[in-house]
Amino acid sequence: MKLSNKVAFITGGTSGIGLETAKLFQAEGASIVLVGSNAERLAEAGKALHGKAVLIQADIRKVSDIERAVEETRRKFGKIDVVFANAGASTVAPLDAVTEDYINDNIALNFTGTFFTIQKTTALMSAGGSVIVTTSFLNTIGYPGLSILAATKAATRSLVRTLGAELASRGIRVNAVSPGAIATPFYSKIGLPDDVLAQVAASITDKVPLKRFGQAEELAKTALFLASNDSSYTTGTELVVDGGLTQF
Ligand SMILES: NC(=O)c1ccc[n+]([C@@H]2O[C@H](COP(=O)([O-])OP(=O)(O)OC[C@H]3O[C@@H](n4cnc5c(N)ncnc54)[C@H](OP(=O)(O)O)[C@@H]3O)[C@@H](O)[C@H]2O)c1
Repeated sequence: MKLSNKVAFITGGTSGIGLETAKLFQAEGASIVLVGSNAERLAEAGKALHGKAVLIQADIRKVSDIERAVEETRRKFGKIDVVFANAGASTVAPLDAVTEDYINDNIALNFTGTFFTIQKTTALMSAGGSVIVTTSFLNTIGYPGLSILAATKAATRSLVRTLGAELASRGIRVNAVSPGAIATPFYSKIGLPDDVLAQVAASITDKVPLKRFGQAEELAKTALFLASNDSSYTTGTELVVDGGLTQF
């Protein structure tokens, strides 16, 4: 029970990496506050967490929604020990298809939402707290059609260093998990037809030295390491879970 008596605030907790992490954190003793924007997925995730998680519907693109979620957490628990700033999404847009609205929407969710999640939640954190941000293999390698998502993820990687430096004096650690290609609903939302998606999946698998997609559970275990005291001397860093995709 590595997270006994801890309160974990998880964004993007309704599916994929966030949901598997919520399950593992709960199994390790944490009380879970789960944030997602879709009511149905939130309710389903609540069932997967044995009806014991606090479920908050909030759109991470809106600072007022983040404030409301944190205030609800304060009223319920009075503190936050672990933050998993994991909400993120995008669609494929080659250079010519990128519009101002597309850029603003990507930044609002993947960067601004992450920033304010950290700002608002750490107000309730004491020494020993841990912040984990989900970045991406895209902040390291170029992949066609995902320029803006990649840029927002590189920006969050940078945040982990700077906010890690700022929060170190309060005894709060800030780290990132960087997923490679992980089998989650992320890909079904990216706006590609099934046949193209299958080709993309095959081509990525071919490039991954371990020759497979990762599983959300493999990210959850890394997030648990960063959340728990096992990583007590680790801050500002990014743990890469990508089957070697960005390393060789
Ligand atoms: N899967 C991969 O290969 C991969 C690779 C690199 C990085 N990542 C990153 O990993 C993180 C988790 O993604 P995943 O793969 O687990 O995909 P996923 O299953 O699609 O999960 C995305 C989560 O983000 C939430 N979300 C999306 N828009 C939101 C909004 N406006 N407000 C609040 N929550 C919102 C979704 O909740 P609702 O549906 O309830 O809105 C969902 O819980 C993301 O940051 C993603 O960029 C994934």
